[in-house]
Amino acid sequence: MYEPKNYLLSMLSHWPIRHSTYNAVQESLPLIMRYSAAEGVDRMEKTPLRRMMKNPFPDVYTVPIFRRRWCEMMIKEIGHMQDHLGFEVNPDEDKLRQIPEIVLRDACPTLYRNMWFVVRSVLNPIIMSLWQRACPDPASIQIANYNLAGTGMGHWHHDESADVSIVVPLNSQSYEGGGTEFHNFGKLKPLPTGHGLVFPSFTHSHRGLPVISGDRYLLVFWLTDKARSINLATNTP
Ligand SMILES: [Fe+2]
Repeated sequence: MYEPKNYLLSMLSHWPIRHSTYNAVQESLPLIMRYSAAEGVDRMEKTPLRRMMKNPFPDVYTVPIFRRRWCEMMIKEIGHMQDHLGFEVNPDEDKLRQIPEIVLRDACPTLYRNMWFVVRSVLNPIIMSLWQRACPDPASIQIANYNLAGTGMGHWHHDESADVSIVVPLNSQSYEGGGTEFHNFGKLKPLPTGHGLVFPSFTHSHRGLPVISGDRYLLVFWLTDKARSINLATNTP
């Protein structure tokens, strides 16, 4: 188990979130609450969060999330984490889809707790604004490392344990190549550092594009709608 060396990373706070995004969350929450309270009778108005998102492919969105300064601190911290933990592939995954990763829930509970807070307070309002649906429960939050020596390029896959995936590059200026390709739609260059790529996990087959040099570090959120699994279990609508 790893404890962050940088005290700022261990604080439960909204400071990692970009100011404009944090403000848009605050302005969007009353619209989201009003929609939820109407119990399916009214439409949700277009929220300020939805207005700041780009939509490069059908149901694929990009949105600035984390401050650049926080991403830089994370990259330094990942250097320390590598010394203590190392990136490991998940042996339960299909070999073709294994990517070196650090799973935060097990490896660094402090960072996991802070990212859980970001899921509840920022990412879930983003998902509600897009699809009028809550996905507040992380199936996994992990740091992935694509590089030429390890996994330079991913294989086509769905993020099987999630309903919604959000992928955030932490160091877009420090490597060549990279980016994401969506089956049937096309390729996206790496997003700017701290921006999130948001897409439905079940419908959107995708793969990481080759990294030509350097390490491409990604913060990956796999989020689920727990209400759906409860409904399925109890067989209620
Ligand atoms: Fe993926």
